[in-house]
Amino acid sequence: MPGKYDTRERLEAILRTTDILCRVKDVDAILDAVLAGARALVNADAGTIYLLEDEQLHFSFTHNDTLFGNDDSNKHIYTSITLPVDDKSMAGYVALTGKPLVIDDAYHLPEDRSYFHNVRLDQESGYKTTSILTVPLSTSREKIVGVMQIINALDQSGNAVPFSQDDQQFINYFANHAAVVIERAQMTRELVLRSIRMAEMRDPMETGSHVNRVGAFCAEIYNHWAREQGISSEEIKKNKDLLRIASMLHDVGKVAISDAILKKPAKLSREEYETMKFHTTLGAALFRNPTSDLDAMSAEIALNHHQRWDGKGYPDGNQDCPGLTFKAVPLKGDQMSIYARITALADVYDALSSHRAYKDPWPTERVMDLLREESGHAFDPEVVESFFSIYETIEAIREKYKDRET
Ligand code: C2E
Ligand code: SIN
Ligand code: SIN
Ligand code: FE
Ligand code: FE
Repeated sequence: MPGKYDTRERLEAILRTTDILCRVKDVDAILDAVLAGARALVNADAGTIYLLEDEQLHFSFTHNDTLFGNDDSNKHIYTSITLPVDDKSMAGYVALTGKPLVIDDAYHLPEDRSYFHNVRLDQESGYKTTSILTVPLSTSREKIVGVMQIINALDQSGNAVPFSQDDQQFINYFANHAAVVIERAQMTRELVLRSIRMAEMRDPMETGSHVNRVGAFCAEIYNHWAREQGISSEEIKKNKDLLRIASMLHDVGKVAISDAILKKPAKLSREEYETMKFHTTLGAALFRNPTSDLDAMSAEIALNHHQRWDGKGYPDGNQDCPGLTFKAVPLKGDQMSIYARITALADVYDALSSHRAYKDPWPTERVMDLLREESGHAFDPEVVESFFSIYETIEAIREKYKDRET
């Protein structure tokens, strides 16, 4: 466990993290980097970020070396907790006042406070929260994007100690930078969701939960698969970040499909289905001049997310469309990228277990049976295996991004 840093080292650490923050794009990857940076700055064991959405604080990311240090399932990051912005919780109090709050010992809070420490959370997890530094993530005096809570500063021998004056100053400074980058990432995700809503979900009931789920499923399935392959964690982080966004865009080609087909509350005719198949090549054509890794990955996923492992999927050679510089042909096995193979499974899993204009949700058992049966036929067996290995995480994601009641 490293000891405390001197000032120059800390400033360098801030700059390094800011540099990382400028390269990654998706909110989750940003929050991960922000927490890692903040914790390293003050040598803290744990931390949580709540983001402010719809005037509520949403638990959005968490680190805890003691509890999750060796757990790579990532289930804990999809916890769905919300706190109101009021003075009953520390996070709520900080969002309400816009001022940092420092607690030396969660079990000896000041007499006159209105908030309390949620002892039950400690009891359930077996974790002992001692020192808590809670700071607003604000981009300006008026605008708070969320709250960051850093827990248990550790001394040289790993004991929880109070946060020093210095710690508080550095974390505040860091939080201002972080807030700006978080806001930018939220705008990127919002932009993605908005384009998807325009493209695919010309349906006021549809909230984008489907694409949020598919993005998260893909990121976590990839995370598991890539670790099994022995891919370096740096490489995994980078690809996972791109995949989350690129897989959200898998169906953008539906922008060109008429409502009569897209919203048909019944089975498509043969001809309608042939038209529908164009959403793959049309989607890929939207990224025809890739200027980034994200464009290139998005194009390939849009094109190949309906390919099958056995080679009987589409595009099958009949969906050529203007703007494509290559021929869209049927692919088999690992001729398509791992990203398309993962998106294929995540998309079908989500379609089967959700309501669609043309179908009711399937019971879970039936969905599971289909995925198992299709291993080696529709789907890459390694992807199916990764999916089942992280099934608890898959369920947590479904809980976090539930469809809005209609
Ligand atoms: P989607 O609703 O996102 O479905 C994605 C994929 O999930 C489908 O790709 C299919 O592989 C799988 N899937 C969805 N529902 C079922 C089902 O009831 N049984 C089985 N065995 N698999 C299912 P697919 O078939 O290439 O369809 C692509 C898109 O075409 C669908 O995206 C949906 O937007 C549209 N579509 C397909 N069939 C129908 C239909 O009968 N009626 C309407 N209105 N749209 C359909
Ligand atoms: C809060 O912000 O009040 C929740 C965390 C805790 O109780 O320690
Ligand atoms: C989709 O999410 O792929 C289509 C949703 C729908 O039209 O019900
Ligand atoms: Fe599709
Ligand atoms: Fe889809």
